[in-house]
Amino acid sequence: MKSFVRNIHPQIIALIGAAAFFLLLILALVKGNLSSPHFQNLIGQPIQVYVHLVAALLTFGLGLVLFAAPKGNFPHRALGWVWSGLMLTVAASSLWITGLNGKTYSPIHLLSAWVLVILPVALVAARRHRVDIHSRIMTGVFLGAMILAGGFTFFPGRLLWRVLFAGSEG
Ligand code: HEM
Repeated sequence: MKSFVRNIHPQIIALIGAAAFFLLLILALVKGNLSSPHFQNLIGQPIQVYVHLVAALLTFGLGLVLFAAPKGNFPHRALGWVWSGLMLTVAASSLWITGLNGKTYSPIHLLSAWVLVILPVALVAARRHRVDIHSRIMTGVFLGAMILAGGFTFFPGRLLWRVLFAGSEG
């Protein structure tokens, strides 16, 4: 797995992310209510859900840009800090969100804890010019947390599924 992650080309990751996004978009167009999303299902959520959602969407979009663009230059470093702040916000805010497993934490919270620990390691690695470690961790975070946890967000019953696919009763 380690060497698999190490060998993935950054542009391929951007492509996987973009493909996941378009797949979801097509699914929402064909099966869902993309023409009239049920945004009313978003109303009345706790503040941490809004913080998590907005930070997650920004992290996803900016992540695609960072993977596709050249590395090591000023824009990459500046936007990388912004991305890391957003990603930490995504993981930290999720610690105040429960529901999948009643009022207790669900297995997805393990991803949050992992991100909170591993992301600072990736940042220290970048500061020390340990590019290999830095890129391996960031790739793992984007694929493992963003694509996995983000994709799982659209499963039946969850908030974004109710917005895109279910009726207002959902
Ligand atoms: C594009 C990416 C993401 C989106 C759109 C997203 C969206 C959401 C939303 C709307 C919720 C609250 C409503 C619900 O559970 O249905 C939620 C819950 C949660 N998210 Fe995310 N999220 C994303 C990425 C992540 C990432 C990267 C992590 C972890 C590092 C994460 C961890 C969690 C956790 C732990 C919960 C609470 C689950 C529970 O109820 O036990 N999410 N997410």
